Amino acid sequence: MLLRHGFLSRIALPRPSIVVPKAIRPYSVGTLGAARAINELQICNPSSREDFNGRMLQEKLGTELLALQEQRLQIGSQELVLIEPADVDAVMDMYINRGQMDRDPYWSRPWPSAVALAKLILQQPSIVSGRRVCEVGAGLGIASISAALAGAKEVVMTDREPLALQCALGSASASGVASVANFQGTSFTKDSPRAQVRGELLDWTQPYVGQKFDVVVACDVLYEDFSVEPVGELLPQLLSSSGCVLLADPSERTRHNREYFVDMMQTIRRPMLLEECKRVDEEMDGKVYSIELMRFRFKEGNESVGVKSLRR
Ligand SMILES: C[S@@+](CC[C@H](N)C(=O)[O-])C[C@H]1O[C@@H](n2cnc3c(N)ncnc32)[C@H](O)[C@@H]1O
Repeated sequence: MLLRHGFLSRIALPRPSIVVPKAIRPYSVGTLGAARAINELQICNPSSREDFNGRMLQEKLGTELLALQEQRLQIGSQELVLIEPADVDAVMDMYINRGQMDRDPYWSRPWPSAVALAKLILQQPSIVSGRRVCEVGAGLGIASISAALAGAKEVVMTDREPLALQCALGSASASGVASVANFQGTSFTKDSPRAQVRGELLDWTQPYVGQKFDVVVACDVLYEDFSVEPVGELLPQLLSSSGCVLLADPSERTRHNREYFVDMMQTIRRPMLLEECKRVDEEMDGKVYSIELMRFRFKEGNESVGVKSLRR
């Protein structure tokens, strides 16, 4: 756990008695951090920075101050600047200290699925241009930020973790999105309802009643068996009648979850058609990750279910 002491000092406290087995720790710091696409990995030095990305964002992280770092992620010709916790283990420790054993720190690093979808969005801006976009389990908001840069009219990044949304909003701002909402406690909208990008707390296990969107985005959210049904129920509820769901998911890691999800989409009360599906390779940290990119929309009339494979 890190405590704030002055601005930059970090006090390491003894580890708590609850020990999380290494096997269920998601990854150690740096396993994804030095992806080939990343040009620069730099620890923020808030005392020498007056900008939102460093000083203010750290101040807003609340009592469990997490040291942040800035990571530059090159996606095609677009550079994203990600503001993220410097130490993933510190995020895990924070949850242990709070007794939130159901939480995971996966939000604090970029994942290849999000990079793959961001690349698609930036290459084909018409997918989101002028549209209302919502991302679930947004983490650092890579796909959302790309949607905003590609000309989406409105982007709502959602996650259950408020710290993730703060980092994602900071990342949007640092990446050049001009109109980003402020963070106000747990309400991300009241202060700047007209911002192009805003954040909303949304736990996909909770009922959703709210706005509908033209494009609903979900990257790497099917990693737990128990998440498939809640995510499968939530996504159509977020979608307008003529909208589409864009799903990015690692090809092999939890393939059975994705297959269950696809089946579920075809059998829900208002069934969805898997309209397009393609596999892409994304290289991060010297490794190649195979990612499935899928597009769903609501079925019309008696349309039969089918997948059109896309050329890479
Ligand atoms: C593997 S990370 C993916 C983050 C981001 N989409 C990406 O691909 O870089 C999974 C994300 O889902 C979020 N998440 C996990 N359980 C959730 C829940 N019940 N409701 C909402 N978000 C959740 C996590 O906080 C995390 O941001």
